[in-house]
Amino acid sequence: MISSRERFLAACRREPVDRPPVWLMRQAGRYLPEYQDVRRTRGFWDVVRAPSLAAEVTLQPLRRFQMDAAIIFSDILIVLDAMGVEVTYRPGGPLITPLVREELDLTRLREVNPARDFAYLARAIEQVTHELHPEKAVLGFAGAPFTLAAYLVEGGAGKNVSQLKALAYNKPELYATLASRIAEVVAGLLALQIDAGVDAVQIFDTWAGHLSPEDYETLALPYVRTIVSRLASRGTPLILYLRNAAGHLEAAARSGVDVISLDHSISLAEAVRRVGDKVALQGNLDPAELAGPPERIARRVGEMIAATQGTGHIVNLGQGLTPDTPIEGVAAFVEAVRRWSPAMARAAS
Ligand code: CP3
Repeated sequence: MISSRERFLAACRREPVDRPPVWLMRQAGRYLPEYQDVRRTRGFWDVVRAPSLAAEVTLQPLRRFQMDAAIIFSDILIVLDAMGVEVTYRPGGPLITPLVREELDLTRLREVNPARDFAYLARAIEQVTHELHPEKAVLGFAGAPFTLAAYLVEGGAGKNVSQLKALAYNKPELYATLASRIAEVVAGLLALQIDAGVDAVQIFDTWAGHLSPEDYETLALPYVRTIVSRLASRGTPLILYLRNAAGHLEAAARSGVDVISLDHSISLAEAVRRVGDKVALQGNLDPAELAGPPERIARRVGEMIAATQGTGHIVNLGQGLTPDTPIEGVAAFVEAVRRWSPAMARAAS
């Protein structure tokens, strides 16, 4: 029997597997009562920064569901925190102060030493891998430079990233300096996670879907490439997530990552046609589907896997699941993937 970890790594390399691996973005979090129990007495940052709490919350979904991978509990905004910026989580979304708008603002950003500043994360990863290896895959992650720059310039999740675009158009050198600095911190953070034992890492470029294809090539892609080149010698699979990715698929596939994680605005069949010979694919069920009947979830899972024939495919959602997601929907999703077999696919076609 192939382990979940071997299955996950084989899928990243587009090698044949008994069935595709499955996990869910935001699988640890507020839809789980046991997560809410932890959060009742502690703030979000307290959980992130305490290795044993972060490890506990990482493991919570795997005690309920048999997904193939755990993603370490943290946040993309830890990079801004390490750079000396204040990050506050409020119900309306994160709030970041002070903002970067001028050259002078860059001088206020702190130099990051990953081993020192992200030591809490390395400890959490060691605890999780100690518990789950060699059976399950453990994933690390970070935000992409464009997406992190968006938070730093907009002060939060800007709806259309217009402030960041204005900065990039008016002060291209300032944007390039800022994005390069973030890229080096992200590369250091991901290298630290790999050294601590994760099996693959995911880079979240959540806001890159707001860019035109031309701007994607200059404002987002080069900085993902920097990270890829810094990590290449380690040979760890890299996953790149984009939201509203359809327009950037070929460009993203040229970034050098192993897997592209798709949102649900594009069909897997189309993505396979366009880039399936270059990268593996992850995704891409609309998380709202998890509120539907289990038979419908199973059918949709079957359709997704039919599109990739189960090879070079990590089954996941098109974006992170939301706090109102029913636990039964998550269970139906994971079980539908686990029950899939090549024979089922042949019978359906
Ligand atoms: O996937 C997982 O289970 C691992 C943990 C994880 C979190 N954030 C925990 C979290 C991951 C992978 C992230 C990534 C992240 N964080 C992204 C990229 C993915 C995406 O959703 O597009 C972004 C843009 C962020 C920034 C962020 N952090 C926002 C916008 C918010 C507030 C919105 C929200 O969902 O509440 C957070 C806070 C956050 N990060 C929470 C969790 C579980 C909620 C905090 C809480 O109240 O407990």
